[in-house]
Amino acid sequence: MDKARIVVLISGSGSNLQALIDAVGNGTLHGNIMLVVSNRRKAFGLTRAEQASIETLYFPLKPYRDSAAPDFRAQYDTDLARAIEPYAPDVIVLAGWMHILSPAFLDRFPGRVINLHPALPGQFAGTHAIERTFTAFQRGETAEGGCMVHYAIPEIDAGAVIMQEIVPIRPNDTLESFAKRVHEAEHRIIIVATQNVIAKTGKT
Ligand code: GAR
Repeated sequence: MDKARIVVLISGSGSNLQALIDAVGNGTLHGNIMLVVSNRRKAFGLTRAEQASIETLYFPLKPYRDSAAPDFRAQYDTDLARAIEPYAPDVIVLAGWMHILSPAFLDRFPGRVINLHPALPGQFAGTHAIERTFTAFQRGETAEGGCMVHYAIPEIDAGAVIMQEIVPIRPNDTLESFAKRVHEAEHRIIIVATQNVIAKTGKT
């Protein structure tokens, strides 16, 4: 039987992409990463992909924004979907992808786009979620953070949860020590969640 086809979208360091690459390498994840897309040219994740001999695509928003077309955002999503479609992905993993995807993209891959977020469901959607969780802890508003993988919907960092992990905050934690444990948890759940979605495709 064919192996599942995985496409990963990144914007930054790509440590979660690395976790996926390693999991494919050691057989934990039963698929092949066909393509890594970045909206940022300098994203280190592109280097990680190249080092693993995975095809890459740099796909910036700027030319669309500069066009000043009123629907430039939907056009970007449509063209991004068109660029990815030939890779016939079974699952598209948003691993630190910092653009919100509209139905112009999501409707092309129903039930196949999943997103990683460094906070628990319903908490701290958007950027800097770990910092905002830690600030809430310092104010005495929360004693834990976490991370989740969920199906992507047009609403940012929301959608049916596939997997989550709570990361308790320790009294002597710094932002750095807490962030380190959140990232370690992310590297675990992204693999299990991606494998769960792959299993549903019937490919493995
Ligand atoms: C991860 O912490 C991921 O959860 C977050 O970006 C980071 C990417 O790290 N995503 C979001 O905040 C989405 N709202 P990485 O580039 O090292 O994988």
